[in-house]
Amino acid sequence: MERQNQDWKGYPNGLVRLTPGRWVFPKNYKYFADRIYKFQPRKTDVFVMTYPKCGTTWTQEIVWTMRNGPDLNHPQAMEFLLTRSPFLDMDMLLHKPKGLPPLNDPLLKGFLKLCPFKNPFNGLMLQMSEAIPDPRTIKTHLPFSLLTPSLLDTAKVVYVARNPKDVIVSYHHHCRMNRVHDFVGSFEDFVQYFVDDDLVYGPYWLHVKEAWEKRDHPNLHILFYEDLKANPSEELRKLNTFLETNLTEAQLEGIVKYTSFNEMKARAKAAGFNEENFDLFNADVVRKDGGFFRKGESGDWKGRFTPELEAKVDKWTQKNMTSFGIDFKYGV
Ligand code: A3P
Repeated sequence: MERQNQDWKGYPNGLVRLTPGRWVFPKNYKYFADRIYKFQPRKTDVFVMTYPKCGTTWTQEIVWTMRNGPDLNHPQAMEFLLTRSPFLDMDMLLHKPKGLPPLNDPLLKGFLKLCPFKNPFNGLMLQMSEAIPDPRTIKTHLPFSLLTPSLLDTAKVVYVARNPKDVIVSYHHHCRMNRVHDFVGSFEDFVQYFVDDDLVYGPYWLHVKEAWEKRDHPNLHILFYEDLKANPSEELRKLNTFLETNLTEAQLEGIVKYTSFNEMKARAKAAGFNEENFDLFNADVVRKDGGFFRKGESGDWKGRFTPELEAKVDKWTQKNMTSFGIDFKYGV
């Protein structure tokens, strides 16, 4: 904890570690864990489940658009993504001493519209996840074991995995930029936290393993960021079958373009998502190293790791991931 307190300024209330699993969360997880675990999925729900920085937002936008606006003309398409596709477990990150986001924040605005008579301090995202109309597309960074055991027998889950080194680079940037975490240590420190399984939402390997073990379940579709990047048309075709959306080739191609990195980045900006002036983000980091839409590439980790750091991550990957049969392109 001493080391954590030095390197992270975003967890003033401390952290919790769960057993079994050794999952790490901000302490506020305790206030929401039970309600999240009991969150009732519906048959028409699709959960997009990932460890942070594996391409959640991209996949969410693809899935939401395929299900709601395949002709790219849905009236809500320009609304902030999390107000139409809520992030189930975000509340434990939001509830900090300084309280809720400001009134003009798109999240709070979305909440007040959807849940006008509810108290935002009582789980803003949790209540939105309950309130949005069917068919719901819900984001979670939690692993299977921390959600209701009936999830997969009830709803569909799209699980996204990404190679560990790109996850490290992207999560490192995210944790420096996002005041929810406010990481002030070095890249070397961050890699050490990762391989020690000490980062929030980790251990990454167990997160992926829990999904991988369920890969033959008909309600689970596992997607790799690298495959989506290399051949989005093919991956959307597979999603079309899995989600039973029956879209035409022309509609799928339209969505591939609409959800490309550059188009999503430009749309977020046009919708008023000004990252240099976003309450949760550190503007200096955004200006210097990019914002949420940072690079959007596979293999960007190359050149970022010293040979020692690379060896450390390779050893961790071989011990924890290759052992259960998963292999990442551009990763190991
Ligand atoms: P980088 O930091 O490597 O650029 P998440 O949504 O799970 O937080 O993942 C964020 C990562 O996905 C970031 O990776 C971000 O740039 C990337 N990303 C977001 N939208 C994307 C898109 N449309 N195409 C490709 N990558 C995208």
